[in-house]
Amino acid sequence: MKDLNAKIDWLTEDLEALLGTHRDGYAMARGFYTSAEVYQEDIKSYWNQTWIWVGHTCQLPQKGSFFLFDYGPESIIIARDRRGEVGAFVNVCRHRGARVCTERAGRAHAFSCPYHAWVYELNGDLRAAREMDAGFDRASHGLLKAHVRILDGLIFVSTAENPPEIDDAIAELKPLVAPFRLDQLKIAHEASYPVPANWKLAIENYMECYHCGPAHLDYSQSHSLKDPHSITPELLASLRKASVDAGLPAEANFSWSKVGHETADMDAYCGRYPLYPGYHTGSKDGALVAPLLGDLKTPFNGANDMQLGILNNFLIYSDHVVGYRFVPRSVQETDIQMVWYVREDAVEGEDYDLEDLTWLWHVTTLDDERIIRVNQEGVNSFHFRPGPLSKMEEFMTAFYDGYLDQLTRARGGA
Ligand code: FES
Ligand SMILES: [Fe+2]
Repeated sequence: MKDLNAKIDWLTEDLEALLGTHRDGYAMARGFYTSAEVYQEDIKSYWNQTWIWVGHTCQLPQKGSFFLFDYGPESIIIARDRRGEVGAFVNVCRHRGARVCTERAGRAHAFSCPYHAWVYELNGDLRAAREMDAGFDRASHGLLKAHVRILDGLIFVSTAENPPEIDDAIAELKPLVAPFRLDQLKIAHEASYPVPANWKLAIENYMECYHCGPAHLDYSQSHSLKDPHSITPELLASLRKASVDAGLPAEANFSWSKVGHETADMDAYCGRYPLYPGYHTGSKDGALVAPLLGDLKTPFNGANDMQLGILNNFLIYSDHVVGYRFVPRSVQETDIQMVWYVREDAVEGEDYDLEDLTWLWHVTTLDDERIIRVNQEGVNSFHFRPGPLSKMEEFMTAFYDGYLDQLTRARGGA
């Protein structure tokens, strides 16, 4: 420890120096969460180089339907074009850079820039530009196109020129989650919880359940993940039986795959863990809070985590899905965004009550907001020294490894 502290004493907030100081099995150093330079690099070299879950096809019911997804200084238009295809474009005019679309969501025939009225088609092509020279080449001035992939309705976008390979990961996840019919969902509720902390502290918090016991009393009543020792063979056997009875693939009780790529890795994860006896879903009293999803015959009495890339997290219960992302706004401003999905034919007030549906993850996220905030406050101290991680934080190291690797590569390192 003496050596580590000595090393950190001369640590600057320069990214090069920071990258050299990280120690496996330890938290990351202060500068990763405080430096404006690191934040710029986070957007450019991490967020802009990977895949981001932006929404669901239920938000694009018709030709011309669109919505925006923003993070850091970036904004992306996701739209359904005249042929019915889902496309995504960088929301930056090819003339002098104004935001082309300023409405959060809606239906359009075309996108007209509010500055000098260049008009873009629903597929991003430039349709018209006033008073330009005869030699102006419209074809090469369409909105920059982002890559799009859809996993059972969930839309993922990448603005990278050569995004990480994702198709293998999608192919592996698809059969594991097929019975949930994620393509047949609707949004029951969306909420954003702003937290005055760096986005990485918010992700780290989501990736470990070391804090769940002390910080989440409500969650810990029902979710066995808060204490691995409580996941007894009996509890696992009962999850397996309930899963098979429900019509889920038994072998998918726990599965992990990692798909390599030359510039980055896309992690795909699908794992199921038991709820304690008496709990059929993540609710106050354990009773279902919405109709069973998709093809499920009975509740499987567990929680199914699904991840496609570190940034994109979904928690699937028997009757609803909660999607999570941690959206950077500035060095120390992050929005914890959550979307609650139920099956598309469920009717609010008849089939589900919004307060019952959202109760658990609302109170849990308020707890998280508080601990992430105090985490950042402490990390801001010049006295902060990264401490050793517990076994229950091992998923965090997957994030650290991928993050540090990607930033190192972006700077031309090994
Ligand atoms: S900036 Fe968009 S038309 Fe000029
Ligand atoms: Fe938490």
